[in-house]
Amino acid sequence: LAVNVFEDEHIAAKKVARRIADIIISKQKENKNAVLGLATGATPVEVYEELVRLYREEGLSFKNVITFNLDEYYPMKPEAKQSYVRFMDEQLFDHIDIPRENIHIPDGTLKKEEIADYCLEYERKITDVGGLDLQVLGIGRTGHIGFNEPGSAPNSGTRLVTLDDLTRRDASREFGGKENVPTKAITMGIGTIFKAKEIILMAWSKKKAPIIRKAVEGEISSNVPATFLQLSDNVEFILDKDAASELT
Ligand code: F6R
Repeated sequence: LAVNVFEDEHIAAKKVARRIADIIISKQKENKNAVLGLATGATPVEVYEELVRLYREEGLSFKNVITFNLDEYYPMKPEAKQSYVRFMDEQLFDHIDIPRENIHIPDGTLKKEEIADYCLEYERKITDVGGLDLQVLGIGRTGHIGFNEPGSAPNSGTRLVTLDDLTRRDASREFGGKENVPTKAITMGIGTIFKAKEIILMAWSKKKAPIIRKAVEGEISSNVPATFLQLSDNVEFILDKDAASELT
């Protein structure tokens, strides 16, 4: 695990966008697809903004990009204001030239009995295109990555999970109250994330400083799922000064 601290989140987000662009360009040169694992939430917003700028102003094409999002609330209609489908369209996909059929986001409209097969299929699709070249992550205050909440196993796969109370509280503003936040989500597993060739976890602001300290320096345990990232050499934490402020 490598930790890199930047002066502020704007510089850090541009750094991550540049890394993504470099992967896309190097794959283009080999006539191959770039397979990206993407996150939603407040943290990656500026990364996507910079990718859109690179598309508009610097000719970066996403024609060879295949994406898999980490998670979606369950149940969730794609057209709902809080859906991750809508988030990704608004922040990124509507503004770039990625082929629609290359986009994958867990489906929040499935019937309960369809979910298990769907999740296996999601894993298979990732494998079929050669695996994730890069997975970008945020981190929740529970220590979740994707929606792998405390208690998640290191070898877990894509599945239906129950959201932690703190996670639902943190989402309550977008939903106009915690009682409106879905209790469940479909998420890639920790095992799914671990198969990525490279993983970048981003965190900004003082609010994330305590969980970043635990994730980087704490005992490896499913109580803080992000601590499993300590086990890998392909993981980079990209932090602003505030998120890094409690590291010793
Ligand atoms: C989102 C996801 C979550 C978020 C995390 C941080 O797809 O998987 O793990 O990355 O909850 O959220 P923000 O960035 O809103 O602080």
